[in-house]
This record gives sequence, C-alpha cells and structure tokens, in this order.
Amino acid sequence: MSRIAIIGGHGKVALELARILTSTGHQVSSLFRNPDHAAEVSASGATPVVADIEHLSTPELASRIRGHDAVVFAAGAGGGSAERTYSVDRDAAIRSMDAALSARVSRYVMISYFGAKPDHGVPEDNSFFPYAESKAAADSHLAHTDLTWTILAPSTLTTAEGTGQIETGPDLTPTKVARQDVARVAAVVLDRPNTAGKVIRFNNGSTPIDQALDGTN
Ligand SMILES: NC(=O)c1ccc[n+]([C@@H]2O[C@H](COP(=O)([O-])OP(=O)(O)OC[C@H]3O[C@@H](n4cnc5c(N)ncnc54)[C@H](OP(=O)(O)O)[C@@H]3O)[C@@H](O)[C@H]2O)c1
Repeated sequence: MSRIAIIGGHGKVALELARILTSTGHQVSSLFRNPDHAAEVSASGATPVVADIEHLSTPELASRIRGHDAVVFAAGAGGGSAERTYSVDRDAAIRSMDAALSARVSRYVMISYFGAKPDHGVPEDNSFFPYAESKAAADSHLAHTDLTWTILAPSTLTTAEGTGQIETGPDLTPTKVARQDVARVAAVVLDRPNTAGKVIRFNNGSTPIDQALDGTN
C-alpha cells in the first residue's frame, strides 16, 4: 500500500485516478481548491484536502504532501486567462516539485501533454501559447530535480470510456486518449519506479497498458 497525494484532486483524471488507487488498496489524499467539492472528492475514496495551489507557498504545499510516498500533479487552469495558466500550470506546478523535494516525497508523476517541449512551436499570438510555455517550463524544472519523476504526455483527452489499451513510442502521431486511460496509465506508472526519468507520450491504441509500458523501460 502506498500513500499518494493528487494535486488538482477534483479534476476528471484526478477523480478517476483516486477511484483506481483507493480500490486497489492505496491511500489517497486529494488536494482541491473549492470546499464545495469535498463530497465529490470523498466519493472517489480519497481524503479531501482543501488546497488552492495558486495561493499556497512551497512550505505550505510541503506540509500538505509530507508523509506521502508519491505526488501526482493533475491540476490545470483549463485554458483560463494567460495569467492563471502561468500561475497554475507553471508556477504552482514548480512549487509543488520543490515542496515534494523538501517534504522528501521522492516519487512525482506529472500529467503533461503530448506536445510539451521547449520548442513547442506554438506561436506567441496563439491562445494556447501560455499553456505550452507553462508546461514546457514545469516539465523542464521537474526533469532537472532529483525527484524520481515520470512525465505523462497524453494526446487530446476525451470523456469516452477507457479501453485499457494505448500506443506509445518515439514516432507516435498524437490522436486522442480517454481520461480514464490516462488515470490507468498514471496508476500503473506509480507502481513502476523503472518508468522514472521517462517522458511517456501516448494515445489510445491496441496494446494493453501494462504491456505498452514495458516498451518504455
Ligand atoms: N484537455 C486535453 O485535451 C489535455 C490533453 C493532454 C493533457 N492535458 C492535461 O491533463 C490535465 C488533467 O486533465 P483533466 O481533464 O482532468 O482536467 P480538469 O478536469 O480540468 O482538472 C484540472 C483540475 O485542476 C484544478 N485546479 C485548477 N486550479 C487549481 C488550484 N489553484 N488549486 C487546486 N486545484 C486547481 C481544477 O479545479 P476545479 O475543479 O475547482 O476547477 C480541476 O479540478 C489538464 O490539466 C492538462 O494539463 C489535457
């Protein structure tokens, strides 16, 4: 049994991940910002922890994740204003990594996106630019820490029922993937320290998740 802290715990991927982890015997604390969402977060099996990460310092975040074995960052501003995107997807994400380090929670899984990289190619005048910049900065910060990190880079997320099957690999073209399968991939990756130091880009595909992730080792 592990103790997992999910940041952005009221998100769609986060709620699904909490359901998977708690139903397989793990303890989950879900950090979420709106107290009105406490019952929904509890229903996922997680212990609800009200935490608006935009407004918590690194030590305040560290105090909320201390004692866990792993952190999953599943939060996102969801394409709000550029200011909020930088604040959540870049700055709060980076503080959460520093918090994990200071709280000695060594395992860290980031939900990023398929195209995340410093040379993302999104033009500055595109509304997606702040997100692309934020995710590139956060992923780069993570990759330069001593955390045992894994970056999940799914393509476009859907609300379709998951299939439990994905495709991954270096020459993949992004298509789409069900949020339920992103959560399943995160759950498997948490159990596999040998995915540390990897950026895993994936779509829904035709290979069972466990087997597809063997190929990333
Ligand atoms: N959309 C795509 O096609 C796509 C593709 C690849 C990767 N991704 C990534 O996948 C992530 C997870 O996707 P999803 O569908 O689960 O997203 P989601 O449902 O929008 O969940 C994001 C969560 O972050 C929370 N959040 C925002 N600001 C916060 C704050 N200050 N403090 C605490 N929590 C905060 C939101 O809280 P509220 O519930 O209160 O709003 C929301 O619950 C996204 O954030 C994105 O980075 C998305």
